[in-house]
Amino acid sequence: DRTPDTTTAHDDFTIVGHRGASGYRPEHTLASYELAARMGADFIEPDLVTTKDGVLVARHEPEIGGTTDVADHPEFADRKTTKSLDGVNVTGWFAEDFTLAELKTLRAKERIPDLRQQNTIYDGRYEVPTLQEVIDLAKRLSRELRREIGIYPETKHPTYFEKQGLALEPPLVRTLTRNGLNRPSAKVYVQSFEVTNLIELRRVLRVPLVQLTSASGAPFDFVAAGDPRTYADIVSPAGLRDVAKYAKGLGPEKSQIIPRDAAGFLTTPTTLVTDAHRAGLKVHPYTFRAENAFLPADFRSSAVPSQYGDLFAEIAAFR
Ligand code: G3P
Ligand code: CA
Repeated sequence: DRTPDTTTAHDDFTIVGHRGASGYRPEHTLASYELAARMGADFIEPDLVTTKDGVLVARHEPEIGGTTDVADHPEFADRKTTKSLDGVNVTGWFAEDFTLAELKTLRAKERIPDLRQQNTIYDGRYEVPTLQEVIDLAKRLSRELRREIGIYPETKHPTYFEKQGLALEPPLVRTLTRNGLNRPSAKVYVQSFEVTNLIELRRVLRVPLVQLTSASGAPFDFVAAGDPRTYADIVSPAGLRDVAKYAKGLGPEKSQIIPRDAAGFLTTPTTLVTDAHRAGLKVHPYTFRAENAFLPADFRSSAVPSQYGDLFAEIAAFR
């Protein structure tokens, strides 16, 4: 059992439990979020997709065959289909084709069993949680741990869902408002890769928003609208000033801040953090985890060669 029994001390930076403690429990389960909070995370991070009946649930992708046991349910065999997801054909089962009641009959499983073999012992144990259940958990843990556990939801593929008549914004606003969390002082950030989604949310949400960016490519809403702007344009000084009109923070892929060379070594930091701060934006880079590719394959059984650094050295480099 690799479950850690210590809490990370971190007075001078913020930890977001990415998909929960996804190295220790199947991602986006209440067990994963709870462990993240107990390990010291300040926030838990549910990625949000929607069910057929418009309930937000925590999954990284709309396709649920990779993270649930839906393939073992003969009653859902005819739901398997192929859809275009942000321009890519994906075959499987999709959250938006299931009611919440149907989705609740499924059980979560580890998404990348080869890499996270330790998590597979939990396969079949946990449900797919709703956003409401994630909020309830954060409230309960805040009371128990005597420190506030925040939530950091991400709207996933908003254009894709909107095209199917299942926009993510209304249920998100309703759920946050119903829980007293639609206010600037709530310990909540809402994040998205899609710009138009955030601009829309700015009109109806009072919590801070975070613009996510990738090291390559473009937001899908721009692609769908024929807008030529890419993530590189968004992180330019002028682009960041535009982001600051609707968001309080930037969530860049970490290689946009300190690129690595082909061998995995940290190289010279870019000016992105300074540029973002100059535009008045906080910076919340993603994702820090020991299993990432820059670490040697035998990381778990060997001392980490000093030239690679370890996870904490990497975090330190970003501070
Ligand atoms: O919080 C940023 C990060 O969650 C974006 O990456 O793909 O894991 O949702 P992803
Ligand atoms: Ca996310």
